[in-house]
Amino acid sequence: MQKVAIIGAGRVGETTAQVLAQQETCREVVLIDIREDTAQGVALDITQMAPLFHFDTRLSGSGDPAAMADADVVVITAGVPRKPGMSRSDVLEVNVKVIDGIVDEVLRHAPQAIILMVTNPVDVLTYRTWQRTAWPRERVLGQAGVLDASRMAAFIAMETGFSSKDITTIVLGGHGDAMVPVPRFCTVNGIPVSHFIDDARMAEIVQRTRDGGAEILSLRKISSAYDAPGAAVAAMVDAIAHNRRRLLPGVAILDGEYGLRDIAMGVPCILDRQGLSRVVELPLTEAEAEAFRQSADGVRGDIARLP
Ligand code: LAC
Repeated sequence: MQKVAIIGAGRVGETTAQVLAQQETCREVVLIDIREDTAQGVALDITQMAPLFHFDTRLSGSGDPAAMADADVVVITAGVPRKPGMSRSDVLEVNVKVIDGIVDEVLRHAPQAIILMVTNPVDVLTYRTWQRTAWPRERVLGQAGVLDASRMAAFIAMETGFSSKDITTIVLGGHGDAMVPVPRFCTVNGIPVSHFIDDARMAEIVQRTRDGGAEILSLRKISSAYDAPGAAVAAMVDAIAHNRRRLLPGVAILDGEYGLRDIAMGVPCILDRQGLSRVVELPLTEAEAEAFRQSADGVRGDIARLP
């Protein structure tokens, strides 16, 4: 892949750029921010890691949206993060204005790109972007589930003491308090996680996963999470850039899957060079399906608040 544009040179944008560069996912990363100096400073700082980590990805920073021209993927991280005590939905009004402006610039300068939304509330802003672009759903995705599933895997690794390399997890639904971690599909190298962790303890891990973002925010106080979020975004970009056809949880526009349409939700996605190749429908138990519906209700509530 040639070029990834990251809109917003805040902490998530910076970490994403750093991981993409270190992994040489693409030839070029451009960071774009209304604070042009910040974007340039971030790009220069990461460029100065290159001799140490032996990568030659080219990085630049700009205040000009035209710098995203010809990007294969545009990652949108710009916007206001929530403060302690706020939910992700509380930043909807302010962030939708920011996102609308950015999407118009993408339409102007990178009309062939795949958009990967990161800004919260990510489900509703992915939906908004899909509507505003009128692009096929293949090219409008959001990141949430890779992060949430990684958090869940980390908690299972901490609980069992096993290598996180062997742990696979899946989290469905909206990226909010009602997200749906699904222990039934979690394994330690293929062995159901229930073999190692009892139901009561697993329920605690599920809840800690739901609260994962808030836990980091309450500890860091002046910042939301950004290390794991940036790595999660980079994992999705990598799957697209290398046409890997990975199965990753992503925010996708649903078109009848899970009995829903005209909504964006976290579901298992097959990601390839076209973006979203396919949504995978899992057979859910009644309890899982009910949790998924409740999460969908929350996202629909936010969509109804869109101006
Ligand atoms: C989190 C925010 C970034 O989950 O949504 O940490």
